[in-house]
Amino acid sequence: MLHRDNASQAPEGGTADRPDFRHTSVLLEGAVDALVQYPSGAYLDGTFGRGGHSRAILSRLDDRGRLIAIDRDPAALAVAAEIDDARLTVCQGVFAELDRHAETCGVHGSLSGVLLDVGVSSPQLDDPERGFSFLRDGPLDMRMDPTSGIGAAEWIARTDDHEMARVFKTYGEERFAKRIARAIVAARREAPIERTHQLAEIVKAAHPAWEKGKHPATRVFQAIRIHLNDELGQLERALDVALESLQTGGRLVVISFHSLEDRLVKRFIRDQSRGDTHLPRGMPIREDQLNKRLKPVGKAMRASESEVHANPRSRSAVMRIAEKLK
Ligand SMILES: C[S@@+](CC[C@H](N)C(=O)[O-])C[C@H]1O[C@@H](n2cnc3c(N)ncnc32)[C@H](O)[C@@H]1O
Repeated sequence: MLHRDNASQAPEGGTADRPDFRHTSVLLEGAVDALVQYPSGAYLDGTFGRGGHSRAILSRLDDRGRLIAIDRDPAALAVAAEIDDARLTVCQGVFAELDRHAETCGVHGSLSGVLLDVGVSSPQLDDPERGFSFLRDGPLDMRMDPTSGIGAAEWIARTDDHEMARVFKTYGEERFAKRIARAIVAARREAPIERTHQLAEIVKAAHPAWEKGKHPATRVFQAIRIHLNDELGQLERALDVALESLQTGGRLVVISFHSLEDRLVKRFIRDQSRGDTHLPRGMPIREDQLNKRLKPVGKAMRASESEVHANPRSRSAVMRIAEKLK
């Protein structure tokens, strides 16, 4: 855990990045308006990124307010470490374990809000050295935390075509998953696949039906990234532990960027706001015995036209808000 009291306030985006690797926060005002109901409350931002949301949360808190910020990426934490604010505690780790961080900080069960702005940040996508993008050539890595697990090059080298196809289909919804997986396995017999452009070219050549306005490797890159970082598993576990970590009346705010994530969030909020649905038929039961734990707040929100114009990456963002009942 990093806790900085004395450094100077970093400018928006921090100083640890090159200016061309900045991140523009999505749905910034809407998310923070929904999240911060009590200026003296304790909040948790599970996805610090470059701290746009975290800084906005801090600006809404009074002297007694607290913020715990988590990220799994050491580059994000380097930016967080530059923020001089005694109300902020920065933790390296995954948001699926946010309850553990809340516990360590003595606020488990009493958080006033949890924010998850999931997926990758712009600096992760834009820096070719991170290996996330088919647009820029770099080493195939795609790990949000490059110090743990295996990178994409290693995964491609050691995975059989059935498993590869499953990943492309499940996490990329790629129709030609099998054909692409077989082409990758054939190509790696010739030479190891170690660069993003190399993989993008193999997928491009194998893909029989390019979608308009979309690079043919888009779905495969997305799938590998989601798989290697266990993004859906992380989100699923984070929703459960966030609910336990909130106090009654606390808010859960989740911003997601593709339908697989949004589906998880939508179902979770729906199920928790219905309560126990498997009770015996005809059993007399009062509303308060249904064990409803969340209530949705408003409808799913998307970025405005002007936000999408200014930041095209906000186009696919969906934000859902829920409040803890008990
Ligand atoms: C979209 S960015 C967040 C941007 C941030 N809200 C801002 O305003 O700068 C997502 C961040 O979450 C981090 N992240 C993604 N999945 C994570 C996980 N399971 N645990 C911890 N951090 C995660 C990524 O490393 C990335 O820095």
